[in-house]
Amino acid sequence: MDLSADDRLFVLTGAGISAESGLATFRGSGGLWNGHRVEDVATPEAWEANPELVWRFYSMRRRDAMAAQPNAGHRALAAIEQRMGDRFYLCTQNVDDLHERAGSQRVHHMHGTLFQSRCERCGVPFADTALYEGADQLPQCEKCGRVVRPHIVWFGEIPLDMDGIYAELDRATVVLVVGTSGSVYPAAGFVNIANRRGVRTVYVGPEEPLNAHAFNDIVLGTAAEVLPGML
Ligand code: APR
Repeated sequence: MDLSADDRLFVLTGAGISAESGLATFRGSGGLWNGHRVEDVATPEAWEANPELVWRFYSMRRRDAMAAQPNAGHRALAAIEQRMGDRFYLCTQNVDDLHERAGSQRVHHMHGTLFQSRCERCGVPFADTALYEGADQLPQCEKCGRVVRPHIVWFGEIPLDMDGIYAELDRATVVLVVGTSGSVYPAAGFVNIANRRGVRTVYVGPEEPLNAHAFNDIVLGTAAEVLPGML
């Protein structure tokens, strides 16, 4: 990818970038997510109905993410951030911390992060790596006693800092999207915003995403195979 000293690169990553680290993607796994239907574990209604199940699910995902290691795709993005500094912006839909562990300094987790929790009432996120897997283990806020939930954006909730994302999209000159099926909005619409401004858009992944028609270039291959050479 040719980038000049004036270019600003906006990168959006999805579950595919962590696939080669052993973390399951959602689509392509038969509609099940680690054995669960999304609506049973990743919606406000699921939380309302069965918070123990939701915490068991996110505890399992914490455990899996802690055991995983970043791959060459994550590392390539960390390396280009080093070179481009604040002309580089990384927005991920992923809730794992593999970008950070590969060395990325500034990562925007638009769907929240696995390793933070927040009180339902106080709402302030705090670092939390604990596993809540027992039936009577619902964590409670130390200040107000209300239940603590994962700091995750569930289906039906609004992604974090959309204003910041749109501001970065507005000044990007190249948009690179990696490993996302193009089925979950608003992230799937970022490429259209880039197109309206006429900036170059590139997709990297082993198969075409649902919104493939919107990209200038589709590079078929895995993140770990393609990104180190491309960047
Ligand atoms: N390298 C790059 N891409 C890959 C790889 C790989 N090694 N392996 C799979 N992929 C691609 C698949 O081809 C697919 O297009 O990753 C994509 C994964 O798609 P999804 O599972 O739908 O993940 P994503 O698009 O990130 O999901 C968006 O939906 O599941 C919810 O909130 C969750 O943030 C997530 C959102």
